[in-house]
Amino acid sequence: MSGILRNIADLDRAAAAGLRTLYPPQLKILVGSASCGVAMGAPDVEAAARRAVEELHLDAVVCRTGCIGFCAKEPLLDLVLPDGPRVSYPHMTPGKTRGLLEAYSRGNLEPEKALGRFTSEEIVSTGEVHSYPPCPEPLRRIPEWSNLDFYRRQKKVILRNCGSIDPRALDETIARGAYRGALRAMTDMTPEAVIDEVVKSGLRGRGGAAFPTGQKWRMAREASADVKYVVCNADEGEPGAYMDRTVLEGDPHAVLEGMLIGAFAIGAGEGFIYVRSEYPLAIEMLEHAIDQAGKRGLLGEDILGTGRSFHVTVRRGAGAYICGEETALIESLEGHSGEPRTRPPYPATNGLWGKPTVVNNVKTWASVAPIVTRGAAWYAGMGTRRTPGTTIFSLEGAVRNAGLVEVPYGISVRDLVYGIGGGLTGDRPLKGFQAGGASRGCLPPSVLDLAIDTEDRDNATILMGTGGVIVLDDGACMVDMARFLVGFFLEESCGKCVPCREGTRQMFRILSRTCEGHGTMADLALLERLARSVKSASVCGMGAMAPGAVMTTLSHFRGEFETHIREKQCPAGVCRGLAAPGSSIGSSAAVRQ
Ligand SMILES: Cc1cc2nc3c(=O)[nH]c(=O)nc-3n(C[C@H](O)[C@H](O)[C@H](O)COP(=O)(O)O)c2cc1C
Ligand code: SF4
Ligand code: SF4
Repeated sequence: MSGILRNIADLDRAAAAGLRTLYPPQLKILVGSASCGVAMGAPDVEAAARRAVEELHLDAVVCRTGCIGFCAKEPLLDLVLPDGPRVSYPHMTPGKTRGLLEAYSRGNLEPEKALGRFTSEEIVSTGEVHSYPPCPEPLRRIPEWSNLDFYRRQKKVILRNCGSIDPRALDETIARGAYRGALRAMTDMTPEAVIDEVVKSGLRGRGGAAFPTGQKWRMAREASADVKYVVCNADEGEPGAYMDRTVLEGDPHAVLEGMLIGAFAIGAGEGFIYVRSEYPLAIEMLEHAIDQAGKRGLLGEDILGTGRSFHVTVRRGAGAYICGEETALIESLEGHSGEPRTRPPYPATNGLWGKPTVVNNVKTWASVAPIVTRGAAWYAGMGTRRTPGTTIFSLEGAVRNAGLVEVPYGISVRDLVYGIGGGLTGDRPLKGFQAGGASRGCLPPSVLDLAIDTEDRDNATILMGTGGVIVLDDGACMVDMARFLVGFFLEESCGKCVPCREGTRQMFRILSRTCEGHGTMADLALLERLARSVKSASVCGMGAMAPGAVMTTLSHFRGEFETHIREKQCPAGVCRGLAAPGSSIGSSAAVRQ
């Protein structure tokens, strides 16, 4: 369906068209084709499915969707059965796809090969539920998707449409509730009421600092200026992080709708999405979505018949970590080199070209529309008192069910690793984990039961900035991990200030000496002194990150550092040249790869 959308009746008509392609009368073959699926061979699976449909004369459509998060099972192919459930099949190859569709044409759905089946799907933006028709007998043996370990504790709000819609099909997105929040905000609410709702929801930024979103919007709203901007920070430079990319690839309209609501709330007419150029598929999906939204009256002039205008442009970053820091990002958007500005003043009052600018993370923007459609109380009912709502983690390393998971704040790492993650690969012992991004360093198993939050006033939570959880088994070397983390910051330092530029270099040298068996106890003391100075004297937040990563790891695994120095031994058997009592399976070197 095409045509300009001007009101709720138009949205309803688009939704009806979207429902017809979401749940068509014939067989639908859905191939997960976000970056990770593509890297694992999804395009070949899709091509095999198309060939089989033609050669077997099946009444079927083949579609692409975004990532459903279960990376360990990629590539995934789903059959949405005519008058039946949706069934997922893991680890697909072109040969298996052909075999599955041949079996389907003979009336056999190969339930023994399936991973899970969907009996219903929640349309998160509206709270409605789509129920699939009842399941025929042989398929009842397939576990329900919502009962799988991987899925049971998850609650998808940000990823609400990823893996269910074709991200290029605007009507399918609308069928799942998209743009109703924007219409409601612009027709039934004042900008102040929208900000109040976001404040009441307790939404905090998902980009790392966890600043209250509504408060930031209010500052920008109250700043007097002729021009204001909203910016989406999609720079995502954290090692092992790919949540923002997945949202953009699987549901770009979720971000656009959030920005549209934010722009209305603060009074901005223009927005920018800053994406790193290493994300070509995300950029393609975003540009397609912007073009489509423009043609249907959801962006540009007279949006949804309200007379309001909002224009969005995608800007590509060169992939420098520091350009994710909001003031460096603003410098880069202005065409200068991406170096941070000193703050205050903050971007909310003095941002892009000196104008009030709200910079929010991809996940933050994608959280906004459901808050407006379902209300602050619904949102605040999830997560913790300090950090309501959900967030996305990448669960990586030596864990069985590696993948992208969306959970409410307050979950423990034990639930993540042993519940959702299904435990460690090969049942190896857990040595520790790195949680919340490179800056947080490595934590020991003794904190497994603490709740994940964004604040830690009482030392009773695990601070989760960005990134995910990297699970480390007994084959990981913590000294090597500390060296890797500092090496990352050394490489990414913008070089503007001496403490960060030279301090991280010296920290890296000390850790390298330790890994090579030339470290001394005096080095450890020097490392601690250096970390304190770099942290306090650096110009921007990045200078505080490298020391944080080292000090956390050192404080929890000091014995292993001392073993490297005093006994010239690497207990994990990772450091070349040192005695190696253990094996190196699941080593930190493997985790890094
Ligand atoms: C070195 C550094 C890198 C950062 N990288 C990112 C990033 O990649 N994405 C992001 O959203 N925020 C990043 N931030 C945080 C941003 O400066 C900013 O706080 C955030 O974009 C605000 O959005 P939010 O309120 O929605 O979290 C980074 C901060 C620092 C200090
Ligand atoms: S702390 Fe590091 S990244 Fe930040 S301005 Fe200084 S050199 Fe650049
Ligand atoms: S020798 Fe092995 S255990 Fe020790 S720091 Fe190096 S990698 Fe880690």
